[in-house]
Amino acid sequence: MFGLVLTLFVVACGDDTPIIDPMDEDLTEIPYNPTDFEVNLPIKFPKLEIPNDNPLTIEGIDLGRHLFYDPILSVDSTMSCSSCHLPAGSFTDNRRVSLGVTGETGRRSSMSLLNIGLYYNGFFWDGRSDVLEEQALLPIEDPIELHDTWPNVEKKLRRQPLYQEKFRRAFGIERSSEITKELAGKAITQFERTLVSSGNSKYDKIQAGQAIYTEQELMGFDMFFDLNPFLPDAECGHCHNAPLFTTNEYINNGLDPVESLMDFADFGRGEVTGKLIDNGTFRVPTLRNIQFTAPYMHDGRFQTLREVINHYNSGGFHADNTNPLIRPLGLTEDQIDALISFINTLSDPDFVNNPTYSNPFE
Ligand code: HEC
Ligand code: HEC
Repeated sequence: MFGLVLTLFVVACGDDTPIIDPMDEDLTEIPYNPTDFEVNLPIKFPKLEIPNDNPLTIEGIDLGRHLFYDPILSVDSTMSCSSCHLPAGSFTDNRRVSLGVTGETGRRSSMSLLNIGLYYNGFFWDGRSDVLEEQALLPIEDPIELHDTWPNVEKKLRRQPLYQEKFRRAFGIERSSEITKELAGKAITQFERTLVSSGNSKYDKIQAGQAIYTEQELMGFDMFFDLNPFLPDAECGHCHNAPLFTTNEYINNGLDPVESLMDFADFGRGEVTGKLIDNGTFRVPTLRNIQFTAPYMHDGRFQTLREVINHYNSGGFHADNTNPLIRPLGLTEDQIDALISFINTLSDPDFVNNPTYSNPFE
């Protein structure tokens, strides 16, 4: 067999016909018959927008899920997307800041991928990426993430029968050489778009009329959304707004004492826009499943929800761009407890334990 391939190769060289890489497999025997997939969203959620050039299919999602969990995407085959985005952490890594393939620590905390397909105001803490398909390509070459190169990863994927088959079934390619980073990015994104709330959190059940708050949760709910004149306004709902519990705006929530807007250790959004006024602002993260994603903030500085609320209760630090809603709140310990019990109604264990999101290689 090997001899035959070699002979063909030599003959091909002899008469000027294009040289076909002996590794370039013909895949047309494998059926291509993709099945549409529809994502079910909880009540009151916005619509999931799907770009025309990347419709969700069962085969595409399956390929994306394999890529997401496969260390083949990293330089030394030790890490995958899932190393920093694990289902148990609502697709975070529960570290203060992430650890890359070389053991080097990054400067920011991993982000939850829950409902990632529903965000439209930029990805990452600083919004530096606008299109999920393109975002998915970035960690591969990031030196403090997977630290490989795309030409190399494409080469590895093209050689694996598993991926030859899965790319064929998902995208109808005819030869293994048609496996590209663009298709890999599309598949990973298809998988990411399926990572949505199950609708079984207590909060979503209440929205659907299938459950009711306890007295303590209701008190927290009222303060969160400022619904009861006899309770303090905790202001949370203005930035962490329903139903996604984020407005996705870029805001300075008063974490750092700085003399000027040039003094932030991490410029955040300002690094992307180059505008002084954006320094020290970060995208508002969702509070859905916050119970599973500690530690908190872009640099993982707070270990518990109580520490976070103590920060807000204190009024934070004032800089020229600190949002005016960041002010001393005057919450008592009982009121903080109530706020926490309301926020815990956003917990969605069915999302975390969903078998269709888990590692397909295990
Ligand atoms: C070494 C750890 C690490 C690896 C590996 C990693 N990520 Fe991340 N991811 C992070 C960190 C940290 C952030 C936040 C970075 C920032 O804001 O600068 C992030 C952010 C994201 C975001 C943005 C979320 C949002 O709400 O904006 C997405 C999407 C994402 N990662 C997907 C992936 C995919 C897909 C892979 C694999 C191809 C991957 N990540 C691999 C650590 C990692
Ligand atoms: C003015 C807007 C604003 C208000 C009001 C606000 N937040 Fe935030 N929140 C943010 C921003 C911005 C971040 C991210 C900041 C960063 O990491 O630098 C954040 C982060 C958080 C985080 C960390 C999430 C994570 O994934 O790490 C929690 C928890 C949180 N807020 C809870 C609350 C609670 C509870 C309240 C009400 C007491 C509240 N927030 C009020 C803007 C706000």
